[in-house]
Amino acid sequence: MIRLLTSKWTKVVVFAVCLFPLASLGWKALRGEMGANPVEFITHATGDWTLRFLVITLAITPLRKITRVPQFIRFRRMLGLFAFIYACLHFSTYMVLDKFFDVAEMLKDIQKRRFITVGLAAFVLIIPLAVTSTAAMIRRLGGKRWQLLHRLIYVSAVLGVIHYYWLVKSDVRKPLEYAWMVGLLLAFRLGVWVVDRSRPCGPRSGSSVELPVTAESA
Ligand code: HEM
Repeated sequence: MIRLLTSKWTKVVVFAVCLFPLASLGWKALRGEMGANPVEFITHATGDWTLRFLVITLAITPLRKITRVPQFIRFRRMLGLFAFIYACLHFSTYMVLDKFFDVAEMLKDIQKRRFITVGLAAFVLIIPLAVTSTAAMIRRLGGKRWQLLHRLIYVSAVLGVIHYYWLVKSDVRKPLEYAWMVGLLLAFRLGVWVVDRSRPCGPRSGSSVELPVTAESA
């Protein structure tokens, strides 16, 4: 298991798997299988994958801690960056294909439709995470500040769920499923933090502070 997780080929496979939703979207576009409203189809697919990748990225730490296999961390930066890539595609679909770069129309939308306002906030919050995902940026910011900054992913995931909840018209089952998942993942972190704080000898070194989303080394 450890050998599999540390192999460079596993990373290549995970990378290819992460690209699969995009390839599938491209394939459907080529074959004209996007239904009557292709823009809506792309918006929904990219929105879904953004939220999925945010949840998967958040799940790495609990997985690592529950299984006691630190090597899972190797994939977190990549998964976080894929969340960002799908968010960029999602936002670009809205900006280019839906609004045709009409800034006035977009500003009106942001003001009037609360789900757009919240979605935009969720997107803006993950931009600094992507920008500071390199080793050089980690060094430049310093571990503590970097870790603090990368907690923005929690806020972004919560806002992403609210965005989804507010945009659906009647059937809120799917956004509620995401709300449960994000809630559980955040509760896990809170639990770890509380347990660490309540240790008689104080938190174990490095265990109470969560590793940055993009960090690969434990
Ligand atoms: C991290 C940021 C974001 C996440 C996680 C996210 C997630 C989602 C999800 C899950 C959906 C629903 C997909 C479905 O119905 O299957 C969606 C739809 C949508 N999102 Fe986002 N989104 C984000 C940012 C944005 C931004 C920045 C905009 C535009 C400014 C935006 C505009 C839309 C629109 C227009 C829809 C379709 C609404 C409809 O069908 O009525 N989203 N998004």
